[in-house]
Amino acid sequence: MENIKGLKRTRLCAELSVNDAGKEVVLMGWVQRRRDLGALIFVTLRDRSGIMQVVFNSEADPELHKKAFQLRSEYVIAVRGTLALRSPEAINRNMPTGELEVLAKELRILSKSETPPFHIEENSEANEALRLKYRYLDLRRPNLQRNLILRHRVAKIARDYFDANGFLEIETPVLTKSTPEGARDYLVPSRVHPGKFYALPQSPQLFKQLLMVSGFDRYMQITKCFRDEDLRADRQPEFTQIDLEMSFVDVDDVIRINEGFIQRVFREILDIDLPVPFKRLTYKEAMERYGSDKPDTRFGLELQNVSDIVRNSGFKVFSDTIANGGTVRAINARGGGSFSRKEIDALAETVKTYGAKGLAWIVIEEDGIKSPIAKFLSETELAGLKERLDARKGDLLLFVADKEEIALNSLGHLRLVLGDKLNLIDRDKYDVLWVTEFPLLEWDEEENRWVAKHHPFTSPMDEDIEYLDTDPARVRAKAYDIVLNGYEIGGGSIRIHDLELQQKMFNVIGFSEEDAKARFGFLLEAFKYGAPPHGGLAFGLDRLVMLLAKTNNIRDVIAFPKVQNASDLMTNAPDYVDQKQLDKLCIKTVEPSE
Ligand code: AMO
Ligand code: AMP
Repeated sequence: MENIKGLKRTRLCAELSVNDAGKEVVLMGWVQRRRDLGALIFVTLRDRSGIMQVVFNSEADPELHKKAFQLRSEYVIAVRGTLALRSPEAINRNMPTGELEVLAKELRILSKSETPPFHIEENSEANEALRLKYRYLDLRRPNLQRNLILRHRVAKIARDYFDANGFLEIETPVLTKSTPEGARDYLVPSRVHPGKFYALPQSPQLFKQLLMVSGFDRYMQITKCFRDEDLRADRQPEFTQIDLEMSFVDVDDVIRINEGFIQRVFREILDIDLPVPFKRLTYKEAMERYGSDKPDTRFGLELQNVSDIVRNSGFKVFSDTIANGGTVRAINARGGGSFSRKEIDALAETVKTYGAKGLAWIVIEEDGIKSPIAKFLSETELAGLKERLDARKGDLLLFVADKEEIALNSLGHLRLVLGDKLNLIDRDKYDVLWVTEFPLLEWDEEENRWVAKHHPFTSPMDEDIEYLDTDPARVRAKAYDIVLNGYEIGGGSIRIHDLELQQKMFNVIGFSEEDAKARFGFLLEAFKYGAPPHGGLAFGLDRLVMLLAKTNNIRDVIAFPKVQNASDLMTNAPDYVDQKQLDKLCIKTVEPSE
């Protein structure tokens, strides 16, 4: 193989412009493609910035032309030549450097390549598993390079913005104790303490609160978090947070500083001006209107409560559900009257996956209605429903009768399906909002007790503290999520800094003093020595970048991601280890039970 001795790269491919024509340039990179046209060989050379066409002319230099003939895809080469303007008919308007080409004077082959397992191109059609196995090749694709460059820029903006606002970046440990975010922990055995385990942090939550007790006042960190949970398209077992915490603040202070950050990201990355303050919806309103605590408000199709109209209906599914404390909620799928029976059945399947027992429907026709439940509905009921749902000819009214939670959640998901199906979502729009006043607690059916909805250090709203003992369901938290196009991109809260209130909170969630001491003793101890009022938030960096990059796959913005079953197809992690290693850790493994 040849080397680069005596050659110095002048510029990256896409940095060259028509103003540079006539200059001698040295480019280095990968062969994207070689095309032979008799006396001419065209090579597209790729580097991080983009591509440049290089021409080898047998009339100008037969030896060089012969050498260029050896080039194959993904060979690494250095080319010295003259940058020239292409003749008008050869200009490629689809390529940023399409008016230029390099007339080669020297070629060095720095490294050869086997035929790659898939063709490396902008929008690869190759199977994702194959691309992840050869991730380093996949990462040569311009899309992924752009995404990672974008990610770098967002991280840089975060550091600059929070620095300018007085935040200090402080690292917190990775080998630590279980944190209270509510997912399963990844555990790391200790050689020095056989039988004991570190937990990888689900977030730096407790440490950032301790930094407030220490008086750092404003903290931020771009940090890895680890959660052993079931993966989805927007979830990874290790992901990155832009994490922050502030002292002497209440909800509005945290919200304001983070609006400034998101505004700056959008301005610098997408040249979009998001007006502040962002919209705010209370959790209750979000659930009632959109059936979701992370509503996509780029389109309408809001849910309606029709319980009062059908309370005494002859359709027993409705009246019995309400009599048993349930509710009937509905959506008008505007213009959905033209859906086929099969399409409506598919909609019913959607709500069933979220626990609903069925989906009742009414199609509004020119002169009447079409509906399997028509015969059970009175004239008054029908008129009431039509009015509440603003029903017009050609509409499809959809109903779920169930416990409130199931009715809202299933219709919330159906709403998203309908928004897509009816083409109501403007893909170029960015819609950002806060969801506030989350419930502090939720009832855990399995454990038969109240659990913290966010984490047990979240402060109740001042006006609701009095209901902690008498009516826990009613207590709202000083907790907020930030939602972008239907994705939760961040969340946080004001914390409890008062030991007595904290103790009360532990009581409500059935944590004994000993439990609390064993798990979070160090934090409770710290609070004895002067804790300032504090609160904060964490953004999911991966999700934020995913949305800015206009992809719906979180793996597209992570250099080395994991797949659905939490494994890494390239390194094969997780993997078995030597018996010797296990012996050192005093660990015996057993066959998993069925
Ligand atoms: P939370 O658990 O809401 O809050 O996490 C903050 C944000 O992190 C992102 N996120 C994830 N992204 C990818 N994969 C995952 N598995 C994943 N889990 C969460 C989401 C989410 O909004 N300590 C608190 C923050 C605080 O109270 O200050 C916390 O971790 O975008
Ligand atoms: P059935 O009486 O079970 O044949 O149901 C008649 C119609 O009501 C069907 O379209 C069902 O999908 C629908 N349905 C059944 N249960 C519910 C429910 N809990 N909420 C809304 N619609 C339902």
